[in-house]
Amino acid sequence: MKRTILTAFVLAYCLASCQTQKEAPEQTQAQTQNQTPQQAQQQPTSADPEMTRFIDELMSKMTLDEKIGQLNLLAVGFDVTGPVVSQNVDENIRKGNVGGVFNTYTPVAARKLQEFAVNNTRLKIPLIFGYDVIHGHRTIFPIPLGLSTSWDMAAVESSARIAAEEASADGLNWVYSPMVDIARDPRWGRIAEGAGEDPYLGSEVAKAMVHGYQGQDLAASNTVMACVKHFALYGAGEAGRDYNSVDMSLNRMFNEYLPPYKAAIDAGVGSVMSSFNDINGVPATANKWLMTDLLRGKWGFDGFVVTDYTAINELMAHGLGDEATVGALALKAGIDMDMVGEVFLKHLPQLIQEGKVTEEDVNKACRRILEAKYKLGLFEDPYRYTDENRAKATLMKPEYRQAARQIAAKGMVLLKNEKQTLPLKKSGTIALIGPLAKNQRDMIGNWSGAGDWKQAVSLEQGIRNVAGNNVKIVYAKGANFTDDQQMIARLNAHGGELDIDKRSATAMIDEAVKAAQKADVIVAAVGESQGMTGEAASRSDIGLPGQQLALLKALKKTGKPLVIVLMNGRPLTLTWEDQNASAMLETWFAGTEAGNAIADVLFGNYNPSGKLTTTFPQVVGQIPLFYNHKSTGRPFAGDPLDKYKSRYMDVSNDPLYPFGYGLSYTSFSYAAPQLSKTAINPSETLQVSVVVRNTGNYDGEEVVQLYVQDVVGSITRPVKELKGFQKIALKKGETKTITFNISPDDLKFYNNDLEYVLEPGDFKVFVGTNSRDVKEAAFKVVE
Ligand code: BGC
Repeated sequence: MKRTILTAFVLAYCLASCQTQKEAPEQTQAQTQNQTPQQAQQQPTSADPEMTRFIDELMSKMTLDEKIGQLNLLAVGFDVTGPVVSQNVDENIRKGNVGGVFNTYTPVAARKLQEFAVNNTRLKIPLIFGYDVIHGHRTIFPIPLGLSTSWDMAAVESSARIAAEEASADGLNWVYSPMVDIARDPRWGRIAEGAGEDPYLGSEVAKAMVHGYQGQDLAASNTVMACVKHFALYGAGEAGRDYNSVDMSLNRMFNEYLPPYKAAIDAGVGSVMSSFNDINGVPATANKWLMTDLLRGKWGFDGFVVTDYTAINELMAHGLGDEATVGALALKAGIDMDMVGEVFLKHLPQLIQEGKVTEEDVNKACRRILEAKYKLGLFEDPYRYTDENRAKATLMKPEYRQAARQIAAKGMVLLKNEKQTLPLKKSGTIALIGPLAKNQRDMIGNWSGAGDWKQAVSLEQGIRNVAGNNVKIVYAKGANFTDDQQMIARLNAHGGELDIDKRSATAMIDEAVKAAQKADVIVAAVGESQGMTGEAASRSDIGLPGQQLALLKALKKTGKPLVIVLMNGRPLTLTWEDQNASAMLETWFAGTEAGNAIADVLFGNYNPSGKLTTTFPQVVGQIPLFYNHKSTGRPFAGDPLDKYKSRYMDVSNDPLYPFGYGLSYTSFSYAAPQLSKTAINPSETLQVSVVVRNTGNYDGEEVVQLYVQDVVGSITRPVKELKGFQKIALKKGETKTITFNISPDDLKFYNNDLEYVLEPGDFKVFVGTNSRDVKEAAFKVVE
């Protein structure tokens, strides 16, 4: 949504305010300090003496106002996710009131702004350039949820690597990703932006993304600084409503929600973004325990913390006091940079005079931001990321599109495939129906960076590319995403660009049924529009929106095989669809190459291998529903007459599709897991091996999943927790033995005193194709 008018706006801004800045930049700080390129090539840590010396010297020359200016981040582009847009940008830069900007990209725009900053400020401190590069920059990959369902960490990392190559060639050096918020509530629109519900998988994805963006050397011209967000617990907002409060036990927090943030820190992420939500009574952006005691004290984070969009100002609405008060709270909590809100800029001078914060507080924050710029090599060359030739040679390279196509296919999840309806034959007539059948706008998904949806391959085009001329396509739109005028207006107000067919729902369905009658098979491309997902897009009903279910019901009556291709940003409730489709493929919003990748799967050029990373509920009333729940004292064992059990009267406790679920065109069999020992001591590693065989008719890939249960604990423990997975390729008929190591860390948890402990006793281990269909074995840990 936010990306479309950006370039024009930035260029207009630059033409207005930067046009006269043609002269060569003056010497940079690094040149003055005689820093060699080799020095900048090493990845400095905060303890790096050369960096410390450089920053000490620079800060000794800075006035208090200049230091406060470094803490100010402006949105120079256009209003995106909040109600406020930065004003007086050039005047503020000139005064040294700006440490960084976001939403400005292209080498030309970024260079102009950087030249303006370097040439017009006393100390010529370069700006840092941030942007929401979330699932690709120009070449768009599947939404993060659809990346996580690949369970392929090399693929996830390479998507971030390519995003970094493009972003860094396009004027940027800082990306607001990865989003690692654990999400168990599919009503929340931002479930699309993360890796789902599991802390172990989420941690692996976090690591892969950070490595992909930052590479080995942050100062290299093709790497960018990552920003892990939203710290913390943003995904746990009550009732799935965005920005809502979180009240959570420390036990749940440490065992289930914090691990992915910690994994990103351990992977060396350079920055952290605070979240909007309240945590146990203290909003994250004012939460000293979170931002300082835990993040820096316990986890040793030495980068900088930026707020989310105007999050300091929002502390007033949270009820923490007036603007000056909340500014002091945020700085004291450990926030370094104020995104758009300008609270620090406005109030810190006075707060220091009043003794409510100290110059030392400002120094700490300023130093961390300057260190980030140093690590990025900006003092050595402020224009490192603004090389037009590199941009031309890099952006949307054919091999990036090829990678996007492969990665998108890897994340698609085959939910059903009755009588081997799929793969389709590359001949005959296909009725291609649905609001997503010819769509390009929505396929790149929400938060699609600087991606251009006009570059996206529609499903229709993809089918033509992959199946060729022997397949005849009859098309009908069949339904709009919604016919609710208010919803249409709201989506369009935020870049939805909805293409609404003015005919009645009945007329559209009739046309689709006629098309279906002429075909051998129906491919119905249905789902959400991208604007129904992402930020501020919570839904209370997560079924297919609008008349799409009515459309599917009418199509079903034709008796033709019904293949449902889903594009959406969250788990949906799909009970009717599951019962009635011949086949169903979850493709998420698959990015620039969506149509080609979907067609690759539909026609069997790629055998689907994705697995769900979020539980799909049967009905909304089951939410939150997740696989790694506790047992309760009255677990329901399946007897329908058993009243006094933890259950619903009107629906079973089962999900529609469990975590880890996903089919293939082939089938796999699992032997019982074999353990290297049945008893280990607390420092030993256990080997678990399992024989997996491809028993079907196609070569394929399988995600072999390993879960553990700590049967007896000093506190209650989940019924199952993912502790390992391997994505393997097996040829038709091939058998492989897969071995996992269960280390002492895999058996540890945080107890109620927040000690990370391994408690000796009984454990179970489960291996299987998803979190439900597993084979188990038992072992003991003995002292
Ligand atoms: C979102 C962040 C995003 C920021 C900057 C906020 O509204 O919550 O995820 O990085 O805007 O666009």
